[in-house]
Amino acid sequence: VNWHDGSLQGEHISQSHKTFGQIAGLFQDQDAARRMDANTIVYTVQWVSPAAHEGALLWGNTTLEPGRVADEYFMTHGHFHQRRDRSEFYATISGEGALLLMDEARKTWFEPMTAGSLHYIAGNLAHRVANVGNIPLRLVACWHADAGHDYSEIAKNGFSARLLCRDGIPALVGEARE
Ligand code: F6R
Ligand code: MN
Repeated sequence: VNWHDGSLQGEHISQSHKTFGQIAGLFQDQDAARRMDANTIVYTVQWVSPAAHEGALLWGNTTLEPGRVADEYFMTHGHFHQRRDRSEFYATISGEGALLLMDEARKTWFEPMTAGSLHYIAGNLAHRVANVGNIPLRLVACWHADAGHDYSEIAKNGFSARLLCRDGIPALVGEARE
């Protein structure tokens, strides 16, 4: 992992893109979503996958493009880990972002992401990143090889709050519960 730009070097590097069409259903304003180009790449993920074994750690990066659907910032799908005891680190390389976290009682909050910020994501928290700036948001992640990704709760019910642009400032809007 090159810590200056988040790039990965070496063997066993995989890459995947997420297009707007693949995540259009996540956004609040579905009329605005229909007006977007489904082929737009919203984010790209790269990861190193060495032979998995108990205790192995994976490294990867995510590059999330700037953009909005009406007032809602471009964001990743978001997920829980299948194994709820598998935590993760996100480190911000460049750009301005927000890390949305939601516990299993569906309480949502966020941490601001700026170049150099390191975020600990406890194993039982759903996590999603939003780009609140004007340039690509690049982060590096480190997680357990056997964490697994559980997208179902977020696909079905989303997060309990959304990050929207209000008077030019990111605001968490929704039924965030105490
Ligand atoms: C791995 C991890 C990240 C995300 C990536 C894309 O556990 O959290 O590598 O997978 O930022 O987000 P999702 O997976 O939610 O589409
Ligand atoms: Mn994760």
